[in-house]
Amino acid sequence: MTASRPTAHQGQVRIAASILSADLAHLAEAVAAAERGGADMIHVDVMDGCFVPPITMGPMIVEALRRVTTLPLGVHLMVCQPERHLEAFARAGASSLAVHPEATAHPYRALSQIRDLGVHAGIALNPGTPAEACAELRDVLDFVVVMSVNPGYAGQAFLAGVLPKIGRLRALLAGWSGWVGIDGGISPQTAGPAVAAGADVLIAASAIFDAPEGIEMAVAALRAAARP
Ligand code: DX5
Ligand code: ZN
Repeated sequence: MTASRPTAHQGQVRIAASILSADLAHLAEAVAAAERGGADMIHVDVMDGCFVPPITMGPMIVEALRRVTTLPLGVHLMVCQPERHLEAFARAGASSLAVHPEATAHPYRALSQIRDLGVHAGIALNPGTPAEACAELRDVLDFVVVMSVNPGYAGQAFLAGVLPKIGRLRALLAGWSGWVGIDGGISPQTAGPAVAAGADVLIAASAIFDAPEGIEMAVAALRAAARP
């Protein structure tokens, strides 16, 4: 199986709604509201208590989501040795899988395995990990997620210092046709600077699912803030 390769956005920033802040007792309704609000993807934060302290969700949640939405499911693996779980998430219906290079001795192999499973393959970079971690991966890389918080929790403050990393990535991977997402602390206040720095995809949890104005309005507000 071979996935069609995603291309860099044509000026349209995409919004990924991270269900880490959703009410899991009403997950289908939360996702439907995000979809009505115009979300382009659902982001699933998988944490294993090893790579990061919390334990969150696994393939069963992805499989359940796959039954209630047609949006792409982006699975962010904050787990040690992610290669142990790639097949299970692909089978569950993941559209893309992001691994951390800090979590595996073999990021190139992990990305190749993801592609072989017919899923888009990405790298997520911790704030302390340089763009150069992707330099030798471009042949197997569909996207990069620049973390703008240290992974593990929703609702943390945006680390604006990571923004220049997006430009460094683009320079390092000149001619590469993948997309760059930014994950952590994204809100209507930080969306503009993130897009100006070159982000194609804004990944947000608390700004969408904890918004007092409701999920639909919150997605729309992010999209409005992302406009140049
Ligand atoms: C952090 C996760 C993020 C998180 C973002 O470890 O990878 O995807 O859901 O949460 P907010 O948008 O609240 O910072
Ligand atoms: Zn994430």
